[in-house]
Amino acid sequence: MATIPVRLGDRSYDVLVGPGARDALAGVVRRLGARRAVVVSARPREWVPDTGVPTLLVPARDGEQDKNLSTVEHLCGEFVRFGLTRSDVVVSCGGGTTTDVVGLAAALHHRGVAVVHLPTTLLAQVDASVGGKTAVNLAAGKNLVGAFWQPSAVLCDTDYLSTLPGRELRNGLGEIARCHFIGAPDLRGLPLVEQIAASVTLKAGIVAADERDAGPRHLLNYGHTLGHALEAATGFALRHGEGVAIGTVFAGRLAGALGRIDQARVDEHLEVVAHYGLPAALPRGVDREVLLRQMRRDKKAVSGLAFVLDGPAGAELVRDVPADVVARVLDDMPREPLDRLVGAEAVTT
Ligand code: GLY
Repeated sequence: MATIPVRLGDRSYDVLVGPGARDALAGVVRRLGARRAVVVSARPREWVPDTGVPTLLVPARDGEQDKNLSTVEHLCGEFVRFGLTRSDVVVSCGGGTTTDVVGLAAALHHRGVAVVHLPTTLLAQVDASVGGKTAVNLAAGKNLVGAFWQPSAVLCDTDYLSTLPGRELRNGLGEIARCHFIGAPDLRGLPLVEQIAASVTLKAGIVAADERDAGPRHLLNYGHTLGHALEAATGFALRHGEGVAIGTVFAGRLAGALGRIDQARVDEHLEVVAHYGLPAALPRGVDREVLLRQMRRDKKAVSGLAFVLDGPAGAELVRDVPADVVARVLDDMPREPLDRLVGAEAVTT
């Protein structure tokens, strides 16, 4: 079992990665001194380990449809009805949408109660559950309301992953692939558990350096500017990790066009993404102007277009990238029908 510390002073915590990690839950609850727990789970009852204290199980559903303020209100109501105090604990079990919404409910209940995440998808294990970002969607957009609320522990039980459909696995592999360009060693070919641990280790270091996303934490958004735009432009037919993969290839090409990296490094972007069986082309029919408009709304952009780009000193946030260069690189990207991009290619880890 890998134990990865997230060093944040008195809010430090460990991320456990490995088969059976969920079995640590009762020990974590005991250490926290909690007398009651509410487990919010998007997975079957038997996936949730014993907490060792009186527990209320609240069923949940993964997915954007429930990632909203109504769910937060519903959860907080359940916490109150169960008599959950500020010294007790909330546990989330599910994918990234569940850890996000439960994390926000925990941040708000009595102005903050401890939360432990049991992420069950690859995406949630390598990214969403670690680092304390919680949020829900508004009708106006995704993740518009949220809080930084660090968990007290994250238990990434890799046994949960054995039942994941191939496409859901690819969703997480997109986040692992982008680690290659933001400071991780070459993870290709390592056992998946080691790749998860390395991705979490990288993220833990970045979060420790910039918990509130004021600087280096932007690096985690490598490939995300175009990735988010593609998710939105396809009505979320393209999954997050798929968009990030295409965005990663695009970020390499853009960095090349700006003279920041050489052709070999540009090609490496495609090689890494292809290694994981992830899509690397733009979906046919998605309008370039729609993507540009969407990317201008990216939260990293103060004005104009901003991307995290590779360069001589490694990846960094680059603001005010000329729109004509971005447009040209978009036009030069290969295009494929959406159903081919998200089709069942072999998954390599
Ligand atoms: N998912 C990006 C971050 O945690 O900052």
